[in-house]
Amino acid sequence: MKKPIVIALICHKGGVGKTSSTVGLADALAVNNPGKKVLIVDADEQSNVKTIFAIKMNEAEGGLASVLLDNASPSNVKVNVRPQIDVILSGGRRMREFERTHANTPNAEQMMRLRFENLSDYDFVVIDSPPALSLISSNIVTYADYLVLPSSPDLLSVVGVKNTIYFIESMHEVFKNTKTPVAQILGILTTMYDSRRNVDMSIVDDYERMAGANLTGGGRVFTPIRTDIKVKTAQIKRKLLSEAFPTSKAAEDYRTLANEIVEQIKTRDEAKNSTKDVMPFNRPAANERAPELNA
Ligand SMILES: Nc1ncnc2c1ncn2[C@@H]1O[C@H](COP(=O)(O)OP(=O)(O)OP(=O)(O)O)[C@@H](O)[C@H]1O
Ligand SMILES: [Mg+2]
Repeated sequence: MKKPIVIALICHKGGVGKTSSTVGLADALAVNNPGKKVLIVDADEQSNVKTIFAIKMNEAEGGLASVLLDNASPSNVKVNVRPQIDVILSGGRRMREFERTHANTPNAEQMMRLRFENLSDYDFVVIDSPPALSLISSNIVTYADYLVLPSSPDLLSVVGVKNTIYFIESMHEVFKNTKTPVAQILGILTTMYDSRRNVDMSIVDDYERMAGANLTGGGRVFTPIRTDIKVKTAQIKRKLLSEAFPTSKAAEDYRTLANEIVEQIKTRDEAKNSTKDVMPFNRPAANERAPELNA
C-alpha cells in the first residue's frame, strides 16, 4: 500500500501564515509534481481552508471532527477541490468537542494516525494546525512524518517557534521508548518576509544560527516566503496562487519551498537508509537551548 508523505504546518502563534502556507505548499506540490495527488487536512476549528476554497458545505456533516468523533472514514469526508487536490475540512466547533471528549482518553494523541492509517490515494498530505498546542496538536505530531514551523518575522513569532520546538521535543521524550512515531522537524519557514527590513533579515539569520547550533530540533531554515499582496488577493478571489498569480513572488517562493521540502525528505531518507546512525531529533542539553534572539 502506498503511504503518503505527511507534512504538517504547526506553530504556537496566530497569524504567522500557517493556513496560507498549507494551501500555498499544497498548490506548489501539485504544480511541481504533475500527476501526484495532495490532500489538505484542516485541523483548525477556524476552518480557514474552507473559506479559502469557498467550500459550500455544512460543516456538521463531516470533516476531521467526524473522523475523530464518529469514526467516519477520511475518504468519506473528503471534498475534491482541484484535479490534484482534495480537502478534509476541520468540522469547525466540533473540534472543541474532540478536545473535551478525549481530554482523559488513554492514547488519545494517536487517534488521527490510526484513523488515517489506510489512506493510500495520496502522495502528499498537508495539514493546517490551530495556533495552540492542544490534543489535536499532539495528534498532528504523532500522525505527520514531518513538521514545518511557519513564523512571521517578529519577536513574538520567534517565541512561538521556540515553544513549538520544546513541545515537539517533549513529545519525542515521552514516546522515545515506545512504538509511537513522532514527527521530525523539517525546518522553519519565515513568511511575509521583506529583505528591505533589517528585522526580517536578522530574524532569519538568528534562525540560521539556531539551526547551525542544533537548536531547531534537527530542522533547517527554508528560503522565506516574501510578503506579497497577491497572497491576500488570491484568497479574496478564492483562487490558488498558481491559478490567479502564477508568476507572483509568493507563487515562486512556494514552488521553491515545495522543492526544498522534497529534497530535504530525500536527504533524510538516504541518511536513514545509510549505515550511519542518524539522530531523528537533535536534542540539545537544557542549558544549550535556544538563546534569546538578537532581533
Ligand atoms: N506572504 C504573504 N504576504 C502577504 N500576506 C500574507 C502572506 N502570507 C500570509 N499572509 C496574510 O497574513 C494573514 C495571516 O495568514 P494566515 O491566516 O495564513 O495565518 P495563520 O497562521 O494560519 O493564522 P491563524 O493562527 O489565525 O490560523 C492572512 O491575512 C494572509 O492573507
Ligand atoms: Mg490558520
